[in-house]
Amino acid sequence: MSATVPDGPALNKEIWKIYREFFDLAERRRRWSLERDIPWDQCNPNTSRAVADVVESFCAVELFLPDYVGKALPMTRGIRGRAWFLANWGYEESKHSLVLQEWLVRSGARTEAQIEEISNWAVVGEWHLPADDVRGMTCYTMCQELATWLHYRNLRRIVGETDPALNKILALVSIDERAHYDFYLKVMKLHLEDDRAGTLEQLKRVLNGFSMPATHLLADSAKRAAAVRSLNIFNENLFYADVLVPIMDALGIEKAELRNRAMQKKSLPAPTP
Ligand SMILES: [Fe+2]
Ligand SMILES: [Fe+2]
Repeated sequence: MSATVPDGPALNKEIWKIYREFFDLAERRRRWSLERDIPWDQCNPNTSRAVADVVESFCAVELFLPDYVGKALPMTRGIRGRAWFLANWGYEESKHSLVLQEWLVRSGARTEAQIEEISNWAVVGEWHLPADDVRGMTCYTMCQELATWLHYRNLRRIVGETDPALNKILALVSIDERAHYDFYLKVMKLHLEDDRAGTLEQLKRVLNGFSMPATHLLADSAKRAAAVRSLNIFNENLFYADVLVPIMDALGIEKAELRNRAMQKKSLPAPTP
């Protein structure tokens, strides 16, 4: 499969159906308003510095949106379900960076000038596609969306009721991330039906080298990754238990299937964010 050739008319038709279900559900249940749905008067100015730093990191990762959409969209030309999904996905992801940025300023954790500085990182570094065809991208993005959901869910558990505004933001964003994962999970099932061995090969490659997008491009990237680990938001064990195992269960993949194909690897990967 090349980057420009659509992956089969029957498969594409199914992806379109998945997209329509995704879109209809999003319109019916998942649309939220940055202005109306966040209790902005309940931002806690005393929310810990560690939490604010992590929110800043998440916000910065979401700022690479022009790369995420701009580089993936040409690959989906001719595959309407994928292209329309990406357009809708871009809208939702754009709200994520906006709402996190809004919380950083309204809570007093960052000034407008600091936000300006953060925004610039996203144009200095450039994110590159982790795979060169739509199936490889499906493997990566499926894992990444579930891992992203996990980041937000775990941060929300830490915040609890201490900051009702941030709590609500993290609830809304994590629901979006879960819906993104669900779309890619359904597309992955089609790929596995279509070509199980080839798809598993690509999934194995993604799992062996998995890392969260753009984190290495941020200023103080090592410190930021360490902060996420120290708050127990994301680490190798959590990736295994809450990303890899649920994905394998949902797709009906046995550990042995990935191991058998993993030429020299004896164990499953130990990725870092
Ligand atoms: Fe997001
Ligand atoms: Fe997402």
